[in-house]
Amino acid sequence: MLKLEGVTKRYKGASVNAVDNLHLEVRPGEIFGFLGPNGAGKTTTIKMVVGLLAADRGKIVVNGRDLAADPLGAKRSIGFVPDNPNLYPRLTGLEYLNLIGDVYGVDGATRKRRLDYYLQMFELTSAVGDLIQSYSRGMQQKLALTGALLHQPPLFILDEPMVGLDPRSAHLFKRVMQEHVNQGNTVFFSTHILEVAENLCHRVGIINKGQLIACGTMDELRQASGQAGSNLEKLFLELTDAGGIDED
Ligand SMILES: Nc1ncnc2c1ncn2[C@@H]1O[C@H](COP(=O)(O)OP(=O)(O)O)[C@@H](O)[C@H]1O
Ligand SMILES: [Mg+2]
Repeated sequence: MLKLEGVTKRYKGASVNAVDNLHLEVRPGEIFGFLGPNGAGKTTTIKMVVGLLAADRGKIVVNGRDLAADPLGAKRSIGFVPDNPNLYPRLTGLEYLNLIGDVYGVDGATRKRRLDYYLQMFELTSAVGDLIQSYSRGMQQKLALTGALLHQPPLFILDEPMVGLDPRSAHLFKRVMQEHVNQGNTVFFSTHILEVAENLCHRVGIINKGQLIACGTMDELRQASGQAGSNLEKLFLELTDAGGIDED
């Protein structure tokens, strides 16, 4: 569903690669967690996958389409919720959603059915006529999520989706991600919250300093590190060598 081959990015003026020769495959129907500490390169990777940032090297294939050769074809398969949704403050929620619906060519009846479903789930129905600038951060995130799912994207990508959400909203986000794969789609999301990954993901990849340092199911990762029974947090700290953490 998503394939990265040797993807590399260095920001202008930087002395090291933000993303360094990344190989990764996200399989159809799975929830894949992209884990790593702050500054590891998660957002940079996601921005390249969704076409917001050009890779220096490497190849990205989305749902069988090469992002460089067929950017529109690749992007049609993607729904994306960024870490800081930057929505149009002077549109109402409904105007924003209709704009997204038009861009992705979602017909009226389908649009209404999906909007009814998500807006009710997110308790946004009564706010949808208000200007986005009046929304709380959580409401904006839920609006962005609704917009990203409006065309039922085969590949749903979220960057740090749980940050800043109250427990109830976080629960709804998890439920929506699960429902989306249950309907035959794929989810790829980044997080530094280990519990979320451990509970939700079929497989995880751990990135550190731009490089993928581990990838697999939790069981596979535990076995590979010879730490059967160890929890994800310990494994994560060992692999990313957080520095200064001394166990003895
Ligand atoms: N726009 C930018 N310009 C220069 N350096 C950047 C920019 N965005 C991120 N970086 C750097 O690239 C590295 C990876 O950042 P990022 O992809 O945001 O990591 P993460 O999302 O895992 O926290 C960090 O060292 C960060 O400082
Ligand atoms: Mg980030």
